[in-house]
Amino acid sequence: MTKVLFICLGNICRSPTAEAVFRQRAAYAGLDTMADSAGTSGWHKGQPPDSRAIEHGLRRGYRFEGQTARQFENLDYGRFDYILAMDEKNLAVLRANMPDTFSGVIGLLLDFDQQNDVREVPDPYYSGPDGFERVLDLIEGGVDGLIKHIKAPVKKANF
Ligand code: 4NP
Repeated sequence: MTKVLFICLGNICRSPTAEAVFRQRAAYAGLDTMADSAGTSGWHKGQPPDSRAIEHGLRRGYRFEGQTARQFENLDYGRFDYILAMDEKNLAVLRANMPDTFSGVIGLLLDFDQQNDVREVPDPYYSGPDGFERVLDLIEGGVDGLIKHIKAPVKKANF
């Protein structure tokens, strides 16, 4: 089973959306996966995803039941194969605390999207509806690339 953790700042907008999109598309692709999300801050701990993230996600058929914001913790390095941040700032936090023993993948979700040069999912918290649609567009591309990667990880040359 491949275990994936999505990371943003508050764990109420971007990473819960990535979790919902990934869960649906991974199931559709027939992959054996587990997904979760967390924030580098604990500001919204215990809260459900932002109602705007839910509203925009639901329109595209994504489901957010059972999601509750939590803060990333060091134990997460031992729980997941992929820990993927929505932007560089949050990635820096993940890199700064990473133990030497971590053998998984830490990076930006959008780096899995070969069709798009955008590397960060912009924070939509203070934006209007367009911001939430943009988050979905970017995350869908990143998730599709991630699923391709999980299905067929780049093989090492066999000398
Ligand atoms: P997220 O968005 O990191 O995508 O969950 C944010 C949510 C809340 C805040 C910032 C970003 N905030 O400043 O409270």
